[in-house]
Amino acid sequence: MVKLSWAVVAAAVLPVVSAKCTPKPVKIKVESHGGNATSTHQYGFLHEDISNSGDGGLYAELIRNRAFQNIEFHPASLDAWSPVNGASLSLNVLDQLLSSALQYSMNVAADSSAGQVGFSNDGYWGMNVKKQTYTGSFWVKGDYEGSFTASLQSNLTGEVFGSTEVESKATSSEWTEHTYQLVPTKDAPNANNTFILTFDAAGAKAGSLDFNLISLFPPTYRGRKNGLRIDLAEAIESFHPTLLRIPGGNMLEGLTNTTRWDWKETLGPLKDRPGYPNVWGYPQTNGLGLMEYLELSEDMNLEIVLAVYSGLALNGDIVPKEKLQPFIDDALDEVEFISGAADTKWGSVRAALGHPAPFKLQFVQVGNEDWLAGGEVGWQTYQDYRFPMFFEAIRVRYPHIHVLSSGSVFDGHNIPAPGLGDYHVYATPNSLVDQFDLFDQTPVTHIIGEAAAVHPNGGAGWDGPELMAYPFWIGTVGEAVSMIGYERNTDRIIGSCYAPILRSLDRWQWAVTMIHFAADPAKTTKSTSWYTWELFAGHLMTHTLPASASYDPLYYVTGKNQDKGTFIFKGAVYNSTAGADVPVSLKFDGVKAGTQAELTLLTGPADPYGYNDPFTGVNVVKTTKQHLAAGKDGSFKFSMPNLSVAVLETEPSEKKPKN
Ligand SMILES: *[C@@H]1O[C@H](CO)[C@@H](O)[C@H](O)[C@H]1NC(C)=O
Ligand SMILES: *[C@@H]1O[C@H](CO)[C@@H](O)[C@H](O)[C@H]1NC(C)=O
Ligand SMILES: *[C@@H]1O[C@H](CO)[C@@H](O)[C@H](O)[C@H]1NC(C)=O
Ligand SMILES: *[C@@H]1O[C@H](CO)[C@@H](O)[C@H](O)[C@H]1NC(C)=O
Ligand SMILES: *[C@@H]1O[C@H](CO)[C@@H](O)[C@H](O)[C@H]1NC(C)=O
Ligand SMILES: *[C@@H]1O[C@H](CO)[C@@H](O)[C@H](O)[C@H]1NC(C)=O
Repeated sequence: MVKLSWAVVAAAVLPVVSAKCTPKPVKIKVESHGGNATSTHQYGFLHEDISNSGDGGLYAELIRNRAFQNIEFHPASLDAWSPVNGASLSLNVLDQLLSSALQYSMNVAADSSAGQVGFSNDGYWGMNVKKQTYTGSFWVKGDYEGSFTASLQSNLTGEVFGSTEVESKATSSEWTEHTYQLVPTKDAPNANNTFILTFDAAGAKAGSLDFNLISLFPPTYRGRKNGLRIDLAEAIESFHPTLLRIPGGNMLEGLTNTTRWDWKETLGPLKDRPGYPNVWGYPQTNGLGLMEYLELSEDMNLEIVLAVYSGLALNGDIVPKEKLQPFIDDALDEVEFISGAADTKWGSVRAALGHPAPFKLQFVQVGNEDWLAGGEVGWQTYQDYRFPMFFEAIRVRYPHIHVLSSGSVFDGHNIPAPGLGDYHVYATPNSLVDQFDLFDQTPVTHIIGEAAAVHPNGGAGWDGPELMAYPFWIGTVGEAVSMIGYERNTDRIIGSCYAPILRSLDRWQWAVTMIHFAADPAKTTKSTSWYTWELFAGHLMTHTLPASASYDPLYYVTGKNQDKGTFIFKGAVYNSTAGADVPVSLKFDGVKAGTQAELTLLTGPADPYGYNDPFTGVNVVKTTKQHLAAGKDGSFKFSMPNLSVAVLETEPSEKKPKN
């Protein structure tokens, strides 16, 4: 907001460009040969459970604290649960556990004359209730004759939108699972709804029943069991990503050396998943586990970058050399679980979970930001033994896999080839533009594992007002300029990942995020950055092509898509002289007069710091599509305003351009 007045002042002092003084066009002449094959997975994202982007976000489970998980730093609790009709709720550890992973359960006690009693759950700050099929399940222990009533109700008015009876199979001798479907007869007007489960107190022989793993799913993305929230998965899918980096981020490392993300604890039936402390201040169910990530990558056709724990925790704990081998073995097990044949030890575990075919895995990253925690010793031990030990072990067993380090030569953390680099950039718009040619300067292949414009120009630091509240237009254009820089160097850039991808508006640890959401899908908001990533990712090149003109204020990359038979230009204008439009004359060698092309132009709001606000729903990004025909000399002529992003793609030619 401070920047709004700055922009107004700037506009007032700058000379107005008169229509008569038309600047000379930037003439771009693109050669038909001599480029490089591009990476086929150029645009992607990082997912880890931060800002409830997993539990309560992409993971569709509606019930919060569904299994009273007792997790390091987060002891079992009755968080999110409330009694209904005077029942008394308490945590119990019964002699007979539901599973060794889920030791705590909820005892629901009431006077036998109390009538219908039970409990309600707040969900992840509400629940979306629509006329659709919800799939519920819960485990009970205790003798009960009668039925349970599961319902979805307004927390504001008590109105019941849907309810169903579930016949009891409960006994005191063992835990019994009950499953059911619930179809509301009405859409709820808002998301301030709760889930309620009740039973007839008179039918509960011992005066109480014990419950555990109480779960409720709406329809999920591609109908997967234990699946993803449809609108969020589709908001991601629709920006056409081709790359997914999992499972973090800092989340991979854990806070201490006993609380790393242990992929083996995320597999199989939900009752066998103990949960995970996370590193972002809230516990995690592990419902969104390794298999769910792999299914997501399969459904969206994403190349995976799998990060494996490298022996460094966020508190600076470093696994000494003589204790590292078990972690290396664990990483090799994980690679085998993902990509091994169904008759290998871990491949057979995957097959038993319903996926006999191996998943594709080409990229394994050792650790995450090993220069961040542990001070200088962190990186020193990484260079000395941690990276080399993982690298050797993975390469010996899986020679086709590319092993990435977690540092970059640009952070002063070089790992010589054939180890690859990972560069993370959270920056101001100006510095993203300044880094346009960064990757022209290194022969080392990198992934841009995390990228986003997060500070206003002149801003820095991780706390306080110098961090923006949402992705913002000038930052988005800065990202576009740096992405063009990456794509120009695509022979050495595996791809780039926007990070983080999702943020709950109700509980978050990181503001600037590509997509924002709440329980109410009407709040799902694509940020300004979503639009540029979508535009660039939606026009993939197979090859870059050399071009003539210099850069600044127009930054661009040119190439072709050999499969489609098209030529492509991606450009962004930043800091044009006095804010004037930049005329462009673009000629692809071999493109004849009259050839058709589509130009998609993105422009932003008057305030360069404007953003897409979930609470107003206004989209500040304007998308304009124009059909252009190449002129007599074969060139396309168009104009790009200050702070704009554009893609031009020619119509497919019958004769596909050859490399
Ligand atoms: C409805 O829920 C939202 C999200 O938790 C909350 O911000 C809002 O205050 C609630 N409204 C009412 C009337 O309780
Ligand atoms: C329901 O209302 C109670 C009491 O106002 C509140 O504590 C709780 O957070 C609300 N839950 C939802 C889902 O709105
Ligand atoms: C974990 O850290 C503690 C010190 O904080 C150390 O004693 C222990 O050996 C470490 N364990 C591993 C596996 O590195
Ligand atoms: C953009 O222009 C401003 C004002 O002239 C200047 O301070 C800034 O460095 C420029 N940024 C870039 C990336 O050129
Ligand atoms: C292709 O890659 C080479 C080697 O990195 C580089 O010198 C050249 O500029 C690249 N060409 C294009 C058009 O990007
Ligand atoms: C032109 O763009 C720069 C950033 O690239 C911005 O700071 C400036 O306000 C814009 N100038 C005008 C006159 O809009």
